[in-house]
Amino acid sequence: MEFSIKSGSPEKQRVACVVLGVFESRKLTEAGAAVDEAAGGYLSDILRRGDMDGRLGTTLLLHHVPHALPERVLLVGLGKEREFRDKAYRDALRAAIKTLDETGSMEAAVYLTEVPVKRRDLAWNVEQAVVVAQEALYRFDQLKSKQEAPRRPLRRLTLAVSRRGELALGEAAVRRGLAIANGMQLARDLGNLPGNLCTPAFLADRARELGKSHGLGIEVLEQADMERLKMGALLSVAKGSRQPPKFIVLQHRGGNKKQKPVVLVGKGITFDAGGISLKPAAEMDEMKYDMSGAASVLGALQAAAELALPLNVVGLIPACENLPDGAANKPGDVVTSMSGQTIEVLNTDAEGRLILCDALTYAERFEPEAVVDVATLTGACVIALGNVATGLLANNDALARELLHAGEAAYDRAWQLPLWDDYQEQLKSNFADMANIGGRPAGTITASAFLSRFARKYHWAHLDIAGTAWKGGKEKGSTGRPVPLLVHFLLGRAG
Ligand code: BES
Ligand code: MN
Ligand code: ZN
Repeated sequence: MEFSIKSGSPEKQRVACVVLGVFESRKLTEAGAAVDEAAGGYLSDILRRGDMDGRLGTTLLLHHVPHALPERVLLVGLGKEREFRDKAYRDALRAAIKTLDETGSMEAAVYLTEVPVKRRDLAWNVEQAVVVAQEALYRFDQLKSKQEAPRRPLRRLTLAVSRRGELALGEAAVRRGLAIANGMQLARDLGNLPGNLCTPAFLADRARELGKSHGLGIEVLEQADMERLKMGALLSVAKGSRQPPKFIVLQHRGGNKKQKPVVLVGKGITFDAGGISLKPAAEMDEMKYDMSGAASVLGALQAAAELALPLNVVGLIPACENLPDGAANKPGDVVTSMSGQTIEVLNTDAEGRLILCDALTYAERFEPEAVVDVATLTGACVIALGNVATGLLANNDALARELLHAGEAAYDRAWQLPLWDDYQEQLKSNFADMANIGGRPAGTITASAFLSRFARKYHWAHLDIAGTAWKGGKEKGSTGRPVPLLVHFLLGRAG
């Protein structure tokens, strides 16, 4: 979809539709009042009669509003004015976009961006409008044999700012929003693709394409390379699969040569059956999303390139499958990681940390400024934080704060859990340097306590996205999170 920024009165827009907000108890927003005045009180009349009361997310489409140039007016309920915060703004926008799309308005001018949102500014409103619109219009139908009947889809959105002086700011926000939305779309497509299509080799091919289209450096390490590097933990997981593992290295070189890079590491398990510690059958299909960390790293790198961020960013993606097989890891097996530390594999389903630990060791060669890994790592994180917040753990408080702040700014929030030494006890093994599981208590924390042993040489943070990267149930699908958080983190680093 195309987005543009415009200042000017709503009643004078020659468009198929203008979108205006109404607060609860039927109060029009400023733009709404302007149209109402031009139309001789036509809108307030309708509100008085009770056809629309402004409840959050409700919509009313009007045709032939007198003395207004737009062909239609879409009223959108914003809820209580005192409670008009982030979520309400996004909900109202989503309702508006869905209605526009369903009613065949191919273009519209949205005036909701002018409405003040508590503790946010115009740039945020505009960026979010782009992200929410693209999110709402996303479809994944590439695997249906028949595409939906041709419709008249929403093609062009004009986002309103109150003053001409705000046009440039609005346009920059649109560019940011688009880069984020495109990154999310890439991540969602990859996440939604099933394990038989989205294999490690497929991920590597997509990374190569991304490298070509966006001018990123790309290298794919093969199994023999990983053997040479002694990535024994990663390889032990890959052994149980017929799909050869791939280790993807992508680079955005936007900074000067001497600038130390930010390294993003994404868990790329293209299907997680659990291995010999097999998962239960129910909902096992959802483990196709176990490469969502990898997908979000690809999305973030694409965005960094699109925005030409003056920053060096490296993306590392260890990719393989976790399946049961005669050659697979067995409970009790001891493997040697690239770092030299040995690991007793007490549960083959705790495979994410096994592939990530070698990627974290590999990251050392970039002498990174900071390393952030992103992984659908633990079911425990879904229990702790649900589908709302990403779990955040870090060995450096400034980096943790930076990521929390980025999540806040992007409305893609994370919540920090403690990574205290006390939790390391749970990883003790009688047979190796450590076990790969720490028992039931604090599963998300012990998983990152494990990773922290491989991240001693740099500032490091871990994002557990098991609950936020995808949705289950009727609306099952990939969400594209935490691409917005990652892009804001990089934007912040780029200054
Ligand atoms: N990919 C899973 C984590 C997961 C579970 C993500 C549910 C999303 C939803 C991970 O590889 C895993 O299996 N973790 C185990 C660890 C346990 C064996 C210590 C888990 O969380 O059950
Ligand atoms: Mn697993
Ligand atoms: Zn997994």
